[in-house]
Amino acid sequence: MPSRSQENQSPQVTPAIATTPRGDGLIGVFATLADQHAQIAQLFEQLQGQPHRRARLWPELRRQLVSHEHAEVRELYPLLRQFSQTYAMANLHDDEARALDALIHRLDATMLESEHWGTLFDQLVSTVLHHAKDEEEQKIFPAAQEALGEARAVELDVQLRQVQQKLAMAH
Ligand SMILES: [Fe+2]
Ligand SMILES: [Fe+2]
Repeated sequence: MPSRSQENQSPQVTPAIATTPRGDGLIGVFATLADQHAQIAQLFEQLQGQPHRRARLWPELRRQLVSHEHAEVRELYPLLRQFSQTYAMANLHDDEARALDALIHRLDATMLESEHWGTLFDQLVSTVLHHAKDEEEQKIFPAAQEALGEARAVELDVQLRQVQQKLAMAH
């Protein structure tokens, strides 16, 4: 009989795969990741506007952020190291992802109710938004989609979501 934790590790994946491009041309995994950026940005706003709800809002935001970023690092960016046009971008990405992890760990080590937590959180917000909007959506994803092709981008969508679900359960 499987243990409870093994049962929890069987993800039920019902992905709504983006098989037609978004307005900005992104498709499949790139459309999914960009949609997640928008969700995360919304959660940032909610949390910044309601400091008294940090204890309630932060764990879910943290889970979404970590599963998003770690899935990118594991599933997407290694593929982008196979192409000369995205190789350097992948390295830059993973440096930024490590910086995000470090900021999250600093938040974890800070009293949630303190003013310092709010200052660190504001820093996290601007770091993530720069990373997601200025780097990924503007530069990396269009180049990556061009390099991988649309069919592969759609295929990867399912794979990445499965990994994200597992990561979300672990964080
Ligand atoms: Fe990223
Ligand atoms: Fe991202």
